[in-house]
Amino acid sequence: MKYVIGNDHGGLDLVEVVKDELEKLGNEVDHVGAYEDKSVDYSDFAQKACEKVISCEADFAILICGTGIGMSIAANKIKGIRAAAVSEPFSARMSRAHNNANVLCIGARVIGSEIARMLVDEFVSTDFEGGRHQNRVNKLMDLEKNS
Ligand code: RB5
Repeated sequence: MKYVIGNDHGGLDLVEVVKDELEKLGNEVDHVGAYEDKSVDYSDFAQKACEKVISCEADFAILICGTGIGMSIAANKIKGIRAAAVSEPFSARMSRAHNNANVLCIGARVIGSEIARMLVDEFVSTDFEGGRHQNRVNKLMDLEKNS
């Protein structure tokens, strides 16, 4: 699978860890920045990464900021994106299995590198279950159409 990573200065510390874990699991990884520890706006990088998902240049995005919250709010404003901000493995798994999330958001000021690796592992290795969850995801997409 193709993954794209986007981060702000608050997420910089986890970029290499996430990239390494994704590659270990056999994925191709693109990185749209930020590349240095200079204050930037997370929404710019959420947009850059999510546009790659929407255009099918990437299958999934992983967004990293200080908390994961700003990135998830920004990403969820983009049509077709289902972003989940999570900080423990069960929710990372469920975000794929039940919500068909296509973007994982994590906070580098909230979790350490080993939890980050676990979140990535769960997200990467879990498929959407479909069935009754498909109906619910369809309704999420309808909310976008009607807003
Ligand atoms: C940047 O200081 C911080 O606000 C940002 O990384 C993120 O945590 C926002 O949600």
